[in-house]
Amino acid sequence: MDLLEKLDQLRARGLEKINAAADTQKLNDVRVELVGKKGALTEILHAMREVAPERRRQVGQLVNEVRDLFNEQLAQTRHDLAQALIAQKLEAEKIDVTLPGKRLSLGAKHPVYLILDDLEALFIGLGYQVVQGPEIETDHYCFEMMNLPKDHPARDMQETFYIDNENLLRSQTSGDQARVLEKHDFSQGPLKMVGPGKVYRRDDDDATHSHQFMQMEGLVVDRNVSMSDLKGTLEMIAKHLFGADRKTRLRPSYFPFTEPSVEMDVSCFNCDGKGCSICKETGWIEVLGAGMVHPNVLENAGIDASIYGGFAFGLGLDRFAILKYGVDDIRDFYTNDVRFLAQFRQEEK
Ligand code: PHE
Repeated sequence: MDLLEKLDQLRARGLEKINAAADTQKLNDVRVELVGKKGALTEILHAMREVAPERRRQVGQLVNEVRDLFNEQLAQTRHDLAQALIAQKLEAEKIDVTLPGKRLSLGAKHPVYLILDDLEALFIGLGYQVVQGPEIETDHYCFEMMNLPKDHPARDMQETFYIDNENLLRSQTSGDQARVLEKHDFSQGPLKMVGPGKVYRRDDDDATHSHQFMQMEGLVVDRNVSMSDLKGTLEMIAKHLFGADRKTRLRPSYFPFTEPSVEMDVSCFNCDGKGCSICKETGWIEVLGAGMVHPNVLENAGIDASIYGGFAFGLGLDRFAILKYGVDDIRDFYTNDVRFLAQFRQEEK
């Protein structure tokens, strides 16, 4: 076949191949095949010897033309492929800034802490200090200072976990009273404190009992503190938590560290005192224990009980949370099921 004809064919075939190269790797193969050292054009150049001398110039020109054309087309295609790759990448990595964001699910404050924080804020507003005693308490503070010597029968009221003879998991926050009484300097003003915290008892867990729960201790000591101060304070707590319409009543009770001792009931918020299953048909719900600080407790802390007196109260925060939020199983507070806890999520203020 005539070389010119061969060149014509090669040009057509070559351009087709260049255009068909789908990626830079294939394009490079095509380049080697067409214009490489051992490529088709080189082959044709080698065949020039057979061309009549007067036509060599013409053939040589055409070879150069075809090579230039190939190189140009190769460069163009290489450029196009690179552009296409960039476009593809841009498309794949495109960020749609108008898409809605992923919602982070916020945690919820634990219902017992909703009550605790609420009451703490209430008492801080009334000038009380907030104290926190140790959960591993000594027999000395938890009981002896609180007018409960070692052989006192009332120790049975609280099923205590003892660690050894002197240390225990506190079964009440009342030890906080003794710790604060010992330190208080009455020349600086009256003592007013609340002490929230965990307590432990050897109870079998069921819907209404837990071996661990939260209490809040309260103590006010000054000159001339009367039982009506206690009553007013307790009423304020009840109305703050359960609404202004709640009625309260005090029933006589017994605690070794208060005399007289009382328990407070609130009128049932479910039936408004008529009697229902929540208040066990009594119309009343017991919410806390309280009383006037026993003189022995003051004397044990080195305070002259003929000058100073006060009142104390201890309330179960879990119980308040159960009543306020209508929770029917105290164990829900301690199993940390997020579906339970999420019900108490509050809107960000
Ligand atoms: N410590 C008592 C209890 O755990 C409650 C209480 C505290 C009663 C303070 C009176 C005064 O049952």
